[in-house]
Amino acid sequence: MRIDIISVLPTMMEGFFQESILARAQKKGLVDIQLHNLRDYSTDKWRRVDDYPYGGSAGMVMQCEPIDRCISALQAQRHYDEVIYMSPDGETFNQHIANELSLKGNLIMLCGHYKGIDQRIREHLITRELSIGDYVLTGGELAAAAITDAIVRLIPGSISDEQSALSDCFQDDLLAAPIYTRPADYKGWRVPEILLSGNEAKIRQWEFEQAMERTKRLRPDLLK
Ligand code: ADE
Repeated sequence: MRIDIISVLPTMMEGFFQESILARAQKKGLVDIQLHNLRDYSTDKWRRVDDYPYGGSAGMVMQCEPIDRCISALQAQRHYDEVIYMSPDGETFNQHIANELSLKGNLIMLCGHYKGIDQRIREHLITRELSIGDYVLTGGELAAAAITDAIVRLIPGSISDEQSALSDCFQDDLLAAPIYTRPADYKGWRVPEILLSGNEAKIRQWEFEQAMERTKRLRPDLLK
């Protein structure tokens, strides 16, 4: 799988992609993550990529030309399954979308900045718009990093124990059950007896009930 991320601040994401599971997945050749500086595609001598909006509203808008040149250059080299725009007014990203995107071959992610991008790019080049939540970040970089992380951990081989990604919370629309490790008694804070019982069936049932209770309380929307 290949993920190309277009941004005006690509260095912001570099460190993130060089750590942990993401670094390992790249070394193993499971994913190729390429960062592109949108300014490299500007024809302006100051490398500008934004301009004032028509109509006189406040803020700056990312222009069509640099984005079109960058996306076209990538698309001339290979086919992309999706061209995703990171935007607070996009579809809210979740585990289902992560699962779906982890099965794709090549993805482009475009990080917005300022007041957003020229609408014509959204109409003609973008195939999907994703938000990581109902709040506005300074740019789409953190969203692209978060979404890339959620996708890459699902690629078989990314995580040493493949099962652990499949048993992540949200995979079955449930929040996680509580989890404990040794010691069984820490300062009188005791691990629930059931987990020490050795009765696998009862333990799985207890975990399910705990996860269900927590989901009902905190995220009833997931159960609809
Ligand atoms: N860009 C700015 N805010 C964002 C958000 N919440 N999700 C995705 N991209 C964004």
